[in-house]
Amino acid sequence: MSVRISVVHDAERAASTLADDVRRGLGAVPRSLPPKWLYDDRGSALFEQITRLAEYYPFAREHEILRDHAAEIAAVSGASTLIELGSGTSEKTRMLLDAFDATGQLERFSPVDVSESTLREAAAAIAGRHPGVAVEAIVGDFTLHLAHLPRGGRRMVAFLGGTIGNLYVEERSAFLGALADQLEPGDSLLLGTDLVKSADRLIAAYNDPGGVTADFVRNSLRVLNRELDADFDLDSFAYVPFWDATLERMDLRLRAEVPQRVAIPGAGLAIDLAMGEEIRVEISTKFRPELLDRELAHAGLTVASRWTDEAGDFALTLATKAEA
Ligand code: AVJ
Repeated sequence: MSVRISVVHDAERAASTLADDVRRGLGAVPRSLPPKWLYDDRGSALFEQITRLAEYYPFAREHEILRDHAAEIAAVSGASTLIELGSGTSEKTRMLLDAFDATGQLERFSPVDVSESTLREAAAAIAGRHPGVAVEAIVGDFTLHLAHLPRGGRRMVAFLGGTIGNLYVEERSAFLGALADQLEPGDSLLLGTDLVKSADRLIAAYNDPGGVTADFVRNSLRVLNRELDADFDLDSFAYVPFWDATLERMDLRLRAEVPQRVAIPGAGLAIDLAMGEEIRVEISTKFRPELLDRELAHAGLTVASRWTDEAGDFALTLATKAEA
């Protein structure tokens, strides 16, 4: 049927946001960088490699849940429009789409992603495989552009991969609130979350011996060198992942191995890093089902069903917008 691609995010706006984010995050102490800038082409390719690591269990576990329960998810949601935030995970999308299409209920698929090239490729492939489904792709940032989601019909918004765990607590509640505001009663959210488990397994998942995860996290500095003309020396930073048992999140940092001054002209910034000073690049929050239910309820979303993998490592939660 039809493929329509709308762009709600332009390069100029993204560039100024990167500079703003960098000023805000790197200019403050403790220093941090927002993780969304990890996913340039190289970062996306490295993340793809991470998903194939034996230690990185979340990808395989979510895959297992979708393989076993996609049909049930389609039935419980009853949705005729499937929206996927931060799509790109093409294989998982395919499992969901196949299950929704098999019931005959699917009319429209709307992937949302910041990468226009990824989206164009995915949209064309999906339109070929599901000729009866209208594809309305949106090039945009799901943290900023929720108001552009397609309206009408019964909708299910899929937010997979555990990506919600990369948001800070305040960002997470703002995101869930903003998303719930866009939903009509009967619409639902399918949310993928990694669950709290032993520190050993968590640390292993973010500290592979081959150093792929370290490269992925260090790539954030490469992005700043390229986009903002910065002069980070990647080799002078050590990768330090640790489990924060109080906040129940992985905390992924880079530590300056020598004292150094770094210029970031594109952000109008120069920073002095002491030896041993750390920059937090990403958090990956792990969830407890009861707390997640409460957060969803607070946003106006009621849990309808939850599925986990055999080992209980990962969860997919279907939550429905409550009647007003
Ligand atoms: C983006 C949520 C899928 O937090 O586990 C993987 C990103 N960072 N290894 C995660 C990530 C380092 C990942 N997700």
